[in-house]
Amino acid sequence: MATRFGNSDIHYNKDFDDVDEEGVLVINKTNRDQAKYPEFLPTWDPRHKYPPLKFHKYIDPASRADPSFPNLFPKDKDYTITRITPKFGSQIDGIQLSQLNDAGKDELALLLAQRKVLLFNDQDFASHGPGFAVEFGKYFGPLHIHPSSGSPRGHPELHITYRRPEKGELEKVFSDRTTNTGWHSDVTYELTPSRFTVFQVLESGDGGDTVFADTAEAYRRLSPAMQKRLEGLHVLHTSEDQAANSTYQGGVERRKAVSNIHPLIRLDPITGEKSIYVNRAFGRRIVEFKKEESDYMLNFLYDVIEKSQDLQLRVNWEAGKRNKVALFHNSGVSHTATFDTEDGEVRHAYRISVLGERPIANLEDLNKEEYSPGDLEQALKGIKPK
Ligand SMILES: [Fe+2]
Repeated sequence: MATRFGNSDIHYNKDFDDVDEEGVLVINKTNRDQAKYPEFLPTWDPRHKYPPLKFHKYIDPASRADPSFPNLFPKDKDYTITRITPKFGSQIDGIQLSQLNDAGKDELALLLAQRKVLLFNDQDFASHGPGFAVEFGKYFGPLHIHPSSGSPRGHPELHITYRRPEKGELEKVFSDRTTNTGWHSDVTYELTPSRFTVFQVLESGDGGDTVFADTAEAYRRLSPAMQKRLEGLHVLHTSEDQAANSTYQGGVERRKAVSNIHPLIRLDPITGEKSIYVNRAFGRRIVEFKKEESDYMLNFLYDVIEKSQDLQLRVNWEAGKRNKVALFHNSGVSHTATFDTEDGEVRHAYRISVLGERPIANLEDLNKEEYSPGDLEQALKGIKPK
């Protein structure tokens, strides 16, 4: 179900924002003048239209990395790595991502596949302007252009989160809901969804943390009998509700809403791990099941991911003061923002999303264009009103 106020901080909002003389939707002047990083503010140009994503083969740079990490962590460097939890998440001090050579970037991709969430403190990305993060990300694969979120002028690959400082915005969000958590992996509705995301909070008050769940660990927690039951099932993912939210707020549609079918249990080609690949935001139906069966099973799986604090970690962005650049996986990890910032405080962040392989359940299907996980038209009939 689309929620009336979902995605309030990524879409244009006609109640607060402006339209400039060229017809581009922009943040209002008062907020522009107050922004610490105005060059990273979102704009939405209704003239920008993009076709649906096409299939691409994806060779993860992690596959050519030296597993002893000699370029990412050279012996003569003074750095520290702190594990956030034993199983996933690491925080790193003393490494400047912008200085990595290509072999170092390959090793970064491998470390990310292994640890799933990486936080690098004291990074200089923001000081290089919006184009720098885009160039950095392009090394790892094609970058996603979001169908409806805003981006700085000239940099459509940047996805901007902007929680407006107008008083009462949070109140409006909670007028209809008791919580605004929204567990998801980024853009799972795409044919080739995000492999990983690079994210930085530029400006914020306290709070506004992101919570991550290890969905490979969630899979391992299931009994062998349940794991067996889930093998071979597929899920319909759709962006239709997200697109409707944008339109509801007066926003744009750069690409038409899309739907795709992906395996419920996803195999990571780098680590060989299986994970539960479904999320409440975009997942709609286990296509092999009847509606009630699908609802029952999906709700159980959402509960395992969302309620098991012992497979989660929480990142506080320290109000953007530590220049913390995060990289997090979208295969094997779900995440949610938290809406607990003070009313009237801005929260401004950017992300880029590197598109990966078409999700697979078996290695023999990797990068095969002819691989078909199900009948999309038939599956769509299952979620449309009769
Ligand atoms: Fe996200």
